[in-house]
Parts: sequence; C-alpha cells; structure tokens
Amino acid sequence: MTKPVLSIQNLSVDYVTDDGPVRAIDNVSLDVMPGEILGVAGESGSGKTTLAKAIMRILQPPAVISGGRVLFEDKDLLQLDEEGLRRLRWTRMSMVFQSAMDALNPVISIGEQIVDTMKVHTDFNSSQARDRAVHLLEMVGIPGDRIDSHAHQLSGGMRQRVGIALALCLEPSLVILDEPTTALDVVVEKEILGEIKELQNKLGFSVMFITHDLERMLQVSDRVAVFYAARLAEIGPAKGLRDNPQHPYTQGLLKAFPSIAPGARTPESIPGSPPSLLSPPSGCRFHPRCSQVVDACSQTRPIRTDLGPGHAAECHLLSQETGAAT
Ligand SMILES: Nc1ncnc2c1ncn2[C@@H]1O[C@H](COP(=O)(O)OP(=O)(O)O)[C@@H](O)[C@H]1O
Ligand SMILES: [Mg+2]
Repeated sequence: MTKPVLSIQNLSVDYVTDDGPVRAIDNVSLDVMPGEILGVAGESGSGKTTLAKAIMRILQPPAVISGGRVLFEDKDLLQLDEEGLRRLRWTRMSMVFQSAMDALNPVISIGEQIVDTMKVHTDFNSSQARDRAVHLLEMVGIPGDRIDSHAHQLSGGMRQRVGIALALCLEPSLVILDEPTTALDVVVEKEILGEIKELQNKLGFSVMFITHDLERMLQVSDRVAVFYAARLAEIGPAKGLRDNPQHPYTQGLLKAFPSIAPGARTPESIPGSPPSLLSPPSGCRFHPRCSQVVDACSQTRPIRTDLGPGHAAECHLLSQETGAAT
C-alpha cells in the first residue's frame, strides 16, 4: 500500500489566552498521499491556518501543540529540533501564505530572494541559481525579465505567483497553500489555481490547499477535508463528497453553494453561526445547528466512522448506521 507523505495523528493545538485555553485543533487525524491535492475547507476561525502552521512548526506563542504526531516522510516533525526542521522547511515542505507579502522581503528583488534561497540549500552557483529563478518565474506566469522587480512593484496576483515560485524552488514533496488566492479577483484566482494544478501534475508534489471557497476547492482537489470548530467533520474524495455528502455540516455547506449541490436551486445557508472555541457546544459541536440532531449529539463527541476508501466522518447518525461502537 502507498504510504502517505504526511500523516497527522490525533493532533491537538491550544492557544493559551487570558480567558483560558482555546483548542483550535482538537484531536484531528488525516493523511496526505503522494501526488495528492487535499483541499481543506471550513469557516473562518475553524482552525485551518493553525493546522498548516502546526505542520510547518511555525506556530508562535501563545499557541502550543498539546498532543499527537505529525509524520512527514517518516520523520516525526514534533520531535525534530530547530536544525532538523530547518533542513526540511522549504526544501521538503513549503508554504504559501494568504498574503505573499508576509513571505517576501521588501528590500531585495524577487530574483535575489529566489537565488538566495537556492544558494543556502543547494550547491548552485549564482548564475545557475539565477537561470533557475527565471525558469521558475516563467513557470508561474511571470515574464523572466521581471526578475529584478521588487515585491511592491508587482500586482497582488503577481506577488502570489512569486510566493508559489519561492515555495517550489527547492522541489519540495509537500506544498501547503493557505488561502493563496483569497485576496485576488476571481479571474486571477482561477488562473493561478489552474497553474498550481498544472505544476502539480508536471512535478508530482503533494498539496494541502486551504480555502473557504468550497466550489473552487472541489474543482481542484482529489480529496477534501471539512473542518468545523477545530474538528474534522468529514474527509473524502472530492467527487464523492460533492455528490453524496454524509455529514450534515458538509450537506449544509453544499446547499449554501447552489451551483455545486446536487439538485439545489436557491442557496440555503446553515442557520446560526459557528461557535466560539472558548466555550464550544458539548458533544458534536455542530449539534445546535444541525437539522438531523438526535439525543446522543449533545452528549458525546461522535467517533470517526469509516465510510469507504479515504472517506470518513464524525457524526452520530453515521456511527449508529454502521453499527460502530460508541
Ligand atoms: N493568536 C491567537 N490567540 C488566541 N487564539 C487564537 C489565535 N489565533 C487563532 N486563535 C484561535 O484559533 C481559532 C482558529 O484560528 P485559525 O487557525 O486562524 O482559523 P482559520 O484559519 O480556519 O480561519 C480561532 O477561532 C481563534 O479562536
Ligand atoms: Mg486562516
């Protein structure tokens, strides 16, 4: 059986605040397979960025990883020291942030930045690194003659493209994209996502792609993980999830996007709003908003039920149906 490139096992992350600990990732397990595009969906505040930063081990206080394991290419990332992490970050796994400005250095040119990164981690000399930088920029749709531009001279879309070039320059096996196109207009967003998919096809890296745009996500992802209030509600193949969502929250999300829900005509939003993680509802966190709620829902956290290859959900209705022990 193929081994996952990334295996997250029972991961929990807390923010230690004055009002008490906020668990932003609550006992979450998921795998990313080689060459797979895994989409991560969930409303704002559901823990997506926390998950990405925990994997990259770039969380800052007051965040603490309070449990679990993150295996990446057979190494437990949570056990590595700074030196071990430095050797992996950007070389084996990299991240593109919502605003590339966060990753780009304003005082040197975009070319210098890619060249510097390559010179630190490879034996390329300056001219080899520069040639590769031109090639990378062209691959992400930036004319090579823009190599001496500074980030502030580029449009938002171009900057995100530079962020992607930088993330790919050392040929990592996993790239995490955290809402890379959210700040862009839809045409540019579509173009960039198309390019990411093309590059992924050509180079074969795995992608964890975070967005709140479920429609776009279902188009580009092989599998999709749906988060609700710090927990994984459902994970499964993109097509299966779209045509036959199993968790009431996934069903609700799809109904809110009428163009992709089977048979839906008018958007129907889920009543209520996501809970504060400071005092989340008991049992299944979705139960106060769920139209199919039963007694068990407010009492215990539903266990994860396997629903098919690569498909699982945390819902009492499903665990009862399949006869799983609770
Ligand atoms: N710096 C912080 N301090 C305290 N709590 C935080 C901090 N950052 C995030 N959180 C908590 O973690 C939750 C998840 O945040 P985040 O991972 O950024 O969500 P998402 O990326 O899905 O919007 C938030 O709802 C908030 O409760
Ligand atoms: Mg986020």
